[in-house]
Amino acid sequence: MKTHVNLQAYNSFGFPVEAKYFVEINDAKELDRLFRMPEYKNEKHLVLSGGNNILFTKPVFDGMVIWMNNKGIKTVADEGNQVIVRVQAGEDWPEFVKKMVEKGLYGVENLAHIPGKVGAAPVQNIGAYGMELKDSFLKCEAVNLENGRKRTFDNKECVFGYRSSIFKTMLKGQYLITSVDFRLSKQAELKLDYGNIRAYLDAHGMADPTLQQLHDAICAIRDAKLPDPKVLGNAGSFFKNPVIKAEQFETLRQQYPEIPHYDEPDSKVKVPAGWLIEQAGWKGWHDEHVGVYDKQALVLVHHGGGRGEDIVYLSKRIQDSVEEKFGIKISPEVNFV
Ligand code: EPU
Repeated sequence: MKTHVNLQAYNSFGFPVEAKYFVEINDAKELDRLFRMPEYKNEKHLVLSGGNNILFTKPVFDGMVIWMNNKGIKTVADEGNQVIVRVQAGEDWPEFVKKMVEKGLYGVENLAHIPGKVGAAPVQNIGAYGMELKDSFLKCEAVNLENGRKRTFDNKECVFGYRSSIFKTMLKGQYLITSVDFRLSKQAELKLDYGNIRAYLDAHGMADPTLQQLHDAICAIRDAKLPDPKVLGNAGSFFKNPVIKAEQFETLRQQYPEIPHYDEPDSKVKVPAGWLIEQAGWKGWHDEHVGVYDKQALVLVHHGGGRGEDIVYLSKRIQDSVEEKFGIKISPEVNFV
């Protein structure tokens, strides 16, 4: 265990936050010892994996950070067309996806290049390009942070929703995920229908792509729109895309006929927050330390020298101006700590 650790390299915004205690876990077995430590019992905890979806709002985290760095990917079942792969929580997500693609396993390829670690992926049910983690998630192993008891959560028990799960709602802060099992397929079933995937593939002469080509195309599409956190601090999409009632959408469409949208069940419509934020005039806005990414208004960025509070303040101003212009409340996808 270390004390007074600078978390700058452990949060993708790159804010220099200090953690009172910091414990690195390299094997889930180490957790039993951790739970018996007096510092563990006396302090509040924060489970940190990649730190890609977190906003530290204060300069000090007055508690214990548990950083998951346990590694291992193994095939636990291989039956017919399906393979079940168990991945330890501390594995890098994009590396895991890359390895599955190299093995010719289908099911996570559209989630290529999403920064983060495997243990955090179920918490917010990561999603991109017409695919979500829940589509291939079989179960996960987790530990109760109160009493150290192990528990398995199957797909249904995780109550997955759009950028949401039970770990972000009912059981928030109560469990630590140690490993995740995925059900992947040996059979080609590519999802090419979302957004500009097909247009990109056609333009690059790959109308009928291989798994590897699709993976590489998704990486290229993401790179063109989303900043690399190693170069420019950010946490991916900062807000969720709001879901509004069809009637409210129709009223908006009269005023803004070009408004992009996706139909949702129960007479609801999802509107891209990035579009709303751009229309409200924020795209590319910045001050000395923080701003709104100039190629994708859904991403808030840290140019250096700033603090979490600067992003909190900016995000509130954006929320207020979107609500004033469109009457729509947008809420953060990123976790505030
Ligand atoms: N748009 C604008 N201006 C902008 C940004 C977007 O007008 O500044 C418009 C685009 O032209 C498009 C629509 O909004 O018509 C949607 O944009 P895009 O396809 O880029 O997707 P998104 O809604 O901005 C979502 C996810 C991303 C995911 C992409 C691709 C959320 C909150 N975000 O973004 O996820 O990669 O779709 O599937 O659902 C993340 O969660 O961190 C993330 C990056």
